[in-house]
Amino acid sequence: MEIRFSTRPLPQIPCDLLVVAAGPDFETELADLDAQLAGHLLEWVKRHGFDGKAGGKSTLPTLGHLEARQLLVVGVGDGGWERLRNAAGVAGRVARRHGARSVGLALGALSGDQHRVAAEMVAAGNYVFDRFKKEADRKPAAESVVFAATPPIPSLVADVGIRVKWQDFARDLVNAPADEIYPETLAARARGLDSLPNVAVEVWDLERCRAEECVGIEAVGRASDRPGCLIHLTYRPDGAAGHVALVGKGVTFDSGGLSLKPGSSMQTMRCDMGGAATVMAAFAAAAELHLPIDIDCFVGAVENLVSGNAYKLGDVLRYPNGVTVEIHNTDAEGRLVLADCLIQASKVPGVTHIVDAATLTGACVVALGADFTGLFTESDDLATALVAAADAAGEGLWRMPLHAPYKKLLHADWATIKNVGGREGGAITAALFLQHFVDGKEWAHLDIAGPAFVEKESRHYAPGATGEMVRTLVGWIEGMGGGSA
Ligand code: BES
Ligand code: MN
Ligand code: ZN
Repeated sequence: MEIRFSTRPLPQIPCDLLVVAAGPDFETELADLDAQLAGHLLEWVKRHGFDGKAGGKSTLPTLGHLEARQLLVVGVGDGGWERLRNAAGVAGRVARRHGARSVGLALGALSGDQHRVAAEMVAAGNYVFDRFKKEADRKPAAESVVFAATPPIPSLVADVGIRVKWQDFARDLVNAPADEIYPETLAARARGLDSLPNVAVEVWDLERCRAEECVGIEAVGRASDRPGCLIHLTYRPDGAAGHVALVGKGVTFDSGGLSLKPGSSMQTMRCDMGGAATVMAAFAAAAELHLPIDIDCFVGAVENLVSGNAYKLGDVLRYPNGVTVEIHNTDAEGRLVLADCLIQASKVPGVTHIVDAATLTGACVVALGADFTGLFTESDDLATALVAAADAAGEGLWRMPLHAPYKKLLHADWATIKNVGGREGGAITAALFLQHFVDGKEWAHLDIAGPAFVEKESRHYAPGATGEMVRTLVGWIEGMGGGSA
């Protein structure tokens, strides 16, 4: 997406959709434009109930009165940055519905960095997954954003294209049907990242996984005809100022296994590799941005299906760190696969921080809904840094308690722990389960089950994958290197 700047008066900005932010005082704020539109603008927006409150919006044709073909007025209430940022997201979404290729943004005075984020939000709102729709039903994506009333500061927005491209990469991976993205093809996408600077890719096939005692990948993936694998990406820039590991849940389809899901819950379970897509995308963006941080990225890729040799309730998995896990529900499979990856990530010399992303629990969706990822960590510093990065990116991240007393809910009769902790606090017990496999590193777990895939349009996101947390993780890694988050 191309980003331009214009100091021309609003009526003279040529674009398909001109987006103007307005608050409760909109009659004054829109007075000049209203005059250009022969008094029809205020009449129109008032007739459509526009009151300037955040969330309200009104679109109208300009009928030759402006150089812009259409006008979108977005309510931003007090005009705070969060409201402006969301308005940019909405602008992207509306632009796609109208097939606008160029979007003019009049959001008022923004700081340097805010231009970058606003442009990223336009792109996030602009994305739709429509490659299975017939040509006539597809609308073109926006190609350019023009910041109105802004002198050029191209350096600040130079890398928007990179961040947006990788967020889209994650969304395309998640939206793709499970018959397209399964462990081998996910690994092929990962291999494709080796053309990025200083990146190497290694894939452990099932045989190697067995040899390395990746017992989660082996057990969960066993019922599928498509063998599981472990994907390991490394990025080693010159002069690195830190070293982090990213871990992603790559369950390319989650039927629940023998603890089979009902159809309504299974329908969207191609999204269950959302964590993998998120960390692969963040990894790739960090490499393309040349961020000065060493990164190891681990993905456990499996399909959780049913067959005559499926793993069973009462089975016990013995992990190489000594923890044994009694299976009480084959639908709590993600944590078993993540455990393999967390063990591997903990072993990498020099890694100080591990962050995993996973569509882990329905309980997290119940707790936080579609707008927030759940953050679990013992480290206040890591929590602060991640939440700041999410805020800066315009994404929703909310810290949840990693409440140690609930560990007793994982108590098993025959093994160290069982793989489920019951209904209560389900997202917390899942996080506590993962903690058993992290050794000697600062660690945070992101439960992205809510935002990873939205069934209905939500905030500025079209239905389907959102790619939330990709830009947050990129910002966090950037901050690790001393850059701005
Ligand atoms: N992949 C699901 C979690 C999920 C639910 C992701 C909804 C996205 C949307 C996970 O593997 C799962 O099935 N979790 C179970 C855990 C339970 C058996 C302890 C759940 O949430 O019901
Ligand atoms: Mn499951
Ligand atoms: Zn799952």
